[in-house]
Amino acid sequence: MTTFALIVAAGRGERLGAGRPKQYLPLAGVPILARTVAAFARHPRIDSVQVVIRPGDEALYEEAVRGFALPAPVAGGASRQESVRRGLDALDLHKPTRVLIHDAARPFVSAAAIDRVIDALETEPGAIAAVPVADTLKRGSEGRIAGTVDRSGLWRAQTPQGFHFDAIRAAHHAAATRADLTDDAAVAELAGLDVALVAGDEGNMKITTAEDLARAEGILLAGLSDLRVGSGYDVHRLVPGDGVWLCGVKLPSDRKLDGHSDADVALHAIVDAILGALGDGDIGQHFPPSDATWKGAPSRLFLEHAASLVRARSGAIAHIDVTIVCERPKVSPHRAAMRATLASLLGIGEDRVSVKATTTEGLGLTGRGEGIAAQAVATIRLPGAAL
Ligand code: CTP
Ligand code: MG
Repeated sequence: MTTFALIVAAGRGERLGAGRPKQYLPLAGVPILARTVAAFARHPRIDSVQVVIRPGDEALYEEAVRGFALPAPVAGGASRQESVRRGLDALDLHKPTRVLIHDAARPFVSAAAIDRVIDALETEPGAIAAVPVADTLKRGSEGRIAGTVDRSGLWRAQTPQGFHFDAIRAAHHAAATRADLTDDAAVAELAGLDVALVAGDEGNMKITTAEDLARAEGILLAGLSDLRVGSGYDVHRLVPGDGVWLCGVKLPSDRKLDGHSDADVALHAIVDAILGALGDGDIGQHFPPSDATWKGAPSRLFLEHAASLVRARSGAIAHIDVTIVCERPKVSPHRAAMRATLASLLGIGEDRVSVKATTTEGLGLTGRGEGIAAQAVATIRLPGAAL
């Protein structure tokens, strides 16, 4: 007996209208799809997780699910229904006993809801998570009430929607020409399958609009009540060279920063700020200069590692502010690129990153051009008790 999860993620997220499909957007620092996949991958009763994606989204997908051991994604279709059907066809190779079909856009699905659907499948061919309608329902016509709808017995359907595998695959093939069915339960109903309603939960929201995304982020952040601020400081010497790495961007120069790695002094200060906020040592401890592995290494590896330490504690980076201190090279033409690079390396929005620069009026080691200094402040949020 095997139970597979089929996560459909082949939509375009048009209503949300971001630069990429919504399932790949960061939600408090972690892509929505990664959160959804994690909910099923770590569930003890789910044997395998199969994701369906839009052809062309492969790079976004790989980036989002890095670290999970998943089978290759299946290509979806023009409608959700077609994406599900293609996913079921691909799973047929493994002949699972049961399949739980779930929208990538519902990252907050609880282990308990997954359990309830699986439990119901012991005795039913189909079962979906749903919540009873609590509001009074009105039928409207031209902006006026045309009647009150009796809400007793009405439910709002969520996912996961679980089924005996062979039955739902056959039902999806039988319904292939019907474009009006909006969930898998409707496909099952058409095939005459009994579908049980089990308790979903209000928290299992579907992210559809930008407002939903903001609300989801608010819910997550509200749970991250342990607010931490860390600071970092670093200096590297300037020597003759072919360009200066700052914030993951190479600035044209006849000099370079001297150091064991690429000596990106700004990234080092940011890494130390994040480690400081975590109370987890400093960059030298995590990446000892004595270790040959890091010789000439791009410092973005250090930053990605620091961000992964925050994620490992289920935390989020709320803000990064870095100040670069030097006379040359001029930082301002590169600030936008630096900000974008930092945001992408950290997996957070650009509005959560600030890059500033200053000179020291010709004074001191930075003023004399002997080196570049950087200082950074990281604000992070961790789950758990407040102060
Ligand atoms: N989906 C899919 N294949 C499609 C359309 C949708 O796999 N051709 C998936 C979406 O990725 C999402 C789920 O079905 O996880 C529910 O669809 P919806 O919330 O409508 O997402 P989108 O279609 O991406 O959003 P929009 O309708 O705003 O474009
Ligand atoms: Mg859609």
